[in-house]
Amino acid sequence: MTELKATINRLLASSKLSPSEKLHQILGRKGILKAAYDELPGLKQAERIERGRLLNRLKHKVQQQLEDNDLSTADPGFDLSLPPLDLPIGTMHPINQTMDRMVDIFMRLGFEIFTGPEIVSDENNFGLLNFPADHPARDTQDSFSLVNSKLMLRTQTSAVQIPIMKNHDLPMRIIVPGKAFRREVNATHMPMFHQLEGFIVDEQVRFTDLKGVLSEFMKQFFGQELKMRFRTHYFPFTEPSAEVDIWWQRESGTGRWLEVLGCGMIHPQVLENAGINSKKFQGIAFGLGLERPFMLRHKVDDMRLLYDNDESFLKSFFQL
Ligand code: DAH
Repeated sequence: MTELKATINRLLASSKLSPSEKLHQILGRKGILKAAYDELPGLKQAERIERGRLLNRLKHKVQQQLEDNDLSTADPGFDLSLPPLDLPIGTMHPINQTMDRMVDIFMRLGFEIFTGPEIVSDENNFGLLNFPADHPARDTQDSFSLVNSKLMLRTQTSAVQIPIMKNHDLPMRIIVPGKAFRREVNATHMPMFHQLEGFIVDEQVRFTDLKGVLSEFMKQFFGQELKMRFRTHYFPFTEPSAEVDIWWQRESGTGRWLEVLGCGMIHPQVLENAGINSKKFQGIAFGLGLERPFMLRHKVDDMRLLYDNDESFLKSFFQL
């Protein structure tokens, strides 16, 4: 024991070893204290207890000394008493924060989340959703198609309806948050933007269920005092279809209705295209863009600002 203590003191006093080398050589897995502990099981009980106690005390002392040493003998190039550097911490992009809030609300309403794929067939994006061959949205101006391929970037998150409906057990209650792509750029459109698609397929789902789910979502997202209306509209893949407007009150006192989402009863043909018996099952669906509600809520009037990577602009949304 005395010999062990002497060796340890010599190591601790050594000016050639750094604190971490000392730690390693004394307390490390192959250190001398470990070797001393390894001898314990071969000893008689009384001796083992006594020796174990001494070793524990020694170990404790070494640990303390090394800790103290660490501070007092540190490289003088460092001043360990200085406060830490103020490194900027990144934050989530405001659109992703908006997405999270929306997803959170739908999760509490019992929806399951899917995301991909972003590269889809023309059939899933248009054909099987009842878009006729001459529908203006199919214009090559509007979509990005992949060279030498029938594939394209989805122009709407609705493109995942058919593949999910084909593969998911019935009934289903799904949301698909994600990116969509169209060839346009201006103050209110970007070539890449975000949408949240949602649909329910079950026996006996009705338009009133759609109204219920969307009213609840909109109130939770925009605030309980929100005024909204369902206005008849046309989408090829829903019948009947509607758009939802919300009343936007300006500070000046005037206000106006603003369209925020499209929805409807899933067209029976779309259900059949996904292999679902439309006599037995019905579906409701909705799709909303994320950028627009975000811009409304935060009075941002140019969508391009969101994707310019202007740090001071993005930082102003740190606390949503
Ligand atoms: N996909 C449509 C769009 O991008 C939005 C939409 C409308 C989605 C009606 C739906 C729906 O699921 O039922 O404009």
